Amino acid sequence: MKDIITLAVESSCDETSVAILKNGREVLSNIINTQVDLHKKFGGVVPEVASRKHIENIDVVLQEALDKANITLNDVDHIAVTYGPGLVGALLVGLSHAKALAFTLNKPLVGVNHIEGHVSANYIEHKDLKPPFITLIVSGGHTHLVEVKDYGEYEILGRTRDDASGEAFDKIARSMGLGYPGGPIVDRLAKEGNKNAIDFPRAYLDEGYDFSFSGLKSAVLNYLNAKKMKNEEIVVEDVCASFQEAVVEVLSKKAIKAAKEKGYNTITLAGGVACNSALRDKLTELGKQNNIDIKYPSPVLCTDNAAMIGCAGYYSYINGRRDDMSLNAVPNLRI
Ligand code: KG4
Ligand code: ZN
Repeated sequence: MKDIITLAVESSCDETSVAILKNGREVLSNIINTQVDLHKKFGGVVPEVASRKHIENIDVVLQEALDKANITLNDVDHIAVTYGPGLVGALLVGLSHAKALAFTLNKPLVGVNHIEGHVSANYIEHKDLKPPFITLIVSGGHTHLVEVKDYGEYEILGRTRDDASGEAFDKIARSMGLGYPGGPIVDRLAKEGNKNAIDFPRAYLDEGYDFSFSGLKSAVLNYLNAKKMKNEEIVVEDVCASFQEAVVEVLSKKAIKAAKEKGYNTITLAGGVACNSALRDKLTELGKQNNIDIKYPSPVLCTDNAAMIGCAGYYSYINGRRDDMSLNAVPNLRI
């Protein structure tokens, strides 16, 4: 059978990325230009700045991806592009670029849901992974517990009712002046701290599959304020470790509960927070106790990248999805 070459474009937030894949799971190139240093001074992503930077970057990133894969645009079989969820201006840069490519090359265009992309990162990392399985999607914008029934077929079991898990990491890091993005910094500092030092609340929400992190975030802020008012020392490492433990405990217990109740023996992690070392360790430990296989992508595939979009786009393509020039950015697109 002839190889299928996918060209994928991702620009939903602050990473401009283009990837080339062969047959959906083999990454020939995955160029990621991150704007994180640009947004750092603002303590978060500034949408207008992100859009402008995507425009500056995208041609260079595309050329680099083609060069690294050692192909030309004529070798591409279809174009995959993130059309949501994300920042509308940022999405439109990648989408317009992808549409222009599809139009001029006369190649099929396939719109991809960014969250589905995160899930698909696991197919690239684990070549023999096939649905069905449970996936825990934990990123800066999303926290979902999902049953993956087949390629492109999902049933949402639970989602966050307020903050996403990555957002909670970023916000508490900001409140302690630790920098942006907070997740990796909290992860690193937590290694030096005592996770049992402070008993922060865990929201189990009547044992359902939904999550809530805003109460925990407020508890951390209240703790920090009370310490400051009393002029008492704040052990940042202990706050990070205790906060992280509260997040990780709820996420892992709910994922294991879902797998057991729904009868699955595989759980995959997806999204930026899937880089978190405590979450990986805790879930792996609970998995061992319950005979559930835990899989996660390497860090570069956890955070935003076009390879994961290409993989999701490939499965949509072989399942017959085709979009036309009317495809628009959908900032609040759901999985
Ligand atoms: O998936 P992603 O790159 O972007 C979204 O689609 O949202 O995720 C970014 C999020 C940020 O909130 C960042 O703080 C978090 O992932 N993150 C982490 C770690 N690495 C990245 N959170 C906790 N521990 C980490 N090691
Ligand atoms: Zn993402």
